[in-house]
Amino acid sequence: MADLDGNREAERFSADIPADSGGFHVKGAAHLDWGMKRRLGNIFSPASGRTVMLAFDHGYFQGPTSGLERLDLSIAPLVDHADAIMCTRGALRTSIPPTADTGLVLRASGGPSMLKELSDEHLALDVADAVRLDADALAVQIFVGGEHESRSIRNLTTLIDSAAPAGIPVLGVTAVGRELTRDARYLRLACRIIAELGAQLVKTYYCEEDFETVTASCPVPVIMAGGKKLPELEALQMAQRAIAGGAAGVDMGRNIFQSNNPRGMLAAVKAVVHEAASAEEAFDLYATSAG
Ligand code: R5P
Repeated sequence: MADLDGNREAERFSADIPADSGGFHVKGAAHLDWGMKRRLGNIFSPASGRTVMLAFDHGYFQGPTSGLERLDLSIAPLVDHADAIMCTRGALRTSIPPTADTGLVLRASGGPSMLKELSDEHLALDVADAVRLDADALAVQIFVGGEHESRSIRNLTTLIDSAAPAGIPVLGVTAVGRELTRDARYLRLACRIIAELGAQLVKTYYCEEDFETVTASCPVPVIMAGGKKLPELEALQMAQRAIAGGAAGVDMGRNIFQSNNPRGMLAAVKAVVHEAASAEEAFDLYATSAG
């Protein structure tokens, strides 16, 4: 391992030079096997190379979150309109019809509730069950700098190794605890660790400054996590800036299902991500669509 003394600050990100994705529409996936590419193709649109993922896995640690009290009523009608959904197997089996026309990313870690230390997670899904559910990817969090950093990274690598024989990609999520700073330097570190350890895609938060260095220095697609509910225009502006900064899509939960018009908000986010609509144009779409 390189020693850490006198390290030069990384600076040659060349964010203006797109990575060569080898003719496949997902960054870093050119040399993957057919099945894994097919599953990534179920998440990322071949036309735009991007994805709009609808996240509703919040209940695995915080119970019946606002907007998710009844998954059958609030979420099931939305799923066909997202490129992919991100949820737990319990939510999927109980509340989402198997006819859903969408990619599927399954939450594969869990353990502590919101009342305890969140980094104290374990893997909570067997790959055999993910195969049974026809998952397109599995999601696990790492807590870089967190109390259980090392175990969470072990969860990631264990999942990558067990999902690879089934051809299932892994989505590594950079969990940011209250005590950690969500700046570009931290997010570069966490995203790059996830990619270097073998995950095929990364989900992380947006940061106002130098977000393009986070995406440029990560050799797999970076998907922006939504975060707390914002006014719709602000959420769309954040999505627009993340896409301009090189994000390969968004994985939004509360900013969609806590909106007064979730279907309209999902359409507006898709316009930003896939059609290069400005946040203002997309907001008009949201504001004029029926709730
Ligand atoms: C949270 O633990 C989950 O991973 C969510 O999927 C993620 O935070 C995205 O949801 P939201 O946009 O509501 O933050």
